[in-house]
Amino acid sequence: MNPAFKQWLNSVCVWIDSTALSQAIQSAAWVVPAVQTVHILAIAALMGSMVMINLRLLGVTGRDQSLAAVSRRFSPVIWWALPVLLVSGIILITGEPARALKNVIFQWKMLMVISAVLITLYFTAPLNKNPAYWDSRGGVGRVVAVVSFALWVGIIFAGRWIAYF
Ligand code: HEM
Repeated sequence: MNPAFKQWLNSVCVWIDSTALSQAIQSAAWVVPAVQTVHILAIAALMGSMVMINLRLLGVTGRDQSLAAVSRRFSPVIWWALPVLLVSGIILITGEPARALKNVIFQWKMLMVISAVLITLYFTAPLNKNPAYWDSRGGVGRVVAVVSFALWVGIIFAGRWIAYF
């Protein structure tokens, strides 16, 4: 890592750590487990919906419903879960900034979150305009499903790995 960036990141962590909010989170032992519970509930909702959409895109399940119908039903759950994950994640960072921000696995996790959001948009945006869009794309849809699956699972793995790296 670039030494100037490392130093800047360190001063950001020291500053966050000194704020009243961080001190309050650190002094109430129940806050982190409670916020982690919210984070995990949002992960469960997001992953369940992601699996339903991607299995339909792969043609494995839900073939009695159109892809557009499956996406209409499940993608709002993904868009509702993401802000919950963002806010709960920020609270966890505020309580222990150096643990996440300085951790390269956390940095990879954020890159994967951005990539997973972009691929979800790439899948849903054309479908909203043309419900039959992916029917004519054959293999591309399957590649999107596999990459999306891999990214979301990679995010879960990275999320757990932060604690051990
Ligand atoms: C949107 C921005 C997000 C931020 C800022 C964020 C931040 C965090 C932080 C700070 C932790 C605590 C890590 C530790 O100290 O051990 C964490 C845990 C975790 N995150 Fe996220 N996260 C975000 C999104 C996601 C998403 C989208 C997923 C998966 C779909 C995810 C999955 C996990 C998992 C599995 C854990 C471990 C939970 C545990 O063991 O208690 N996160 N996250």
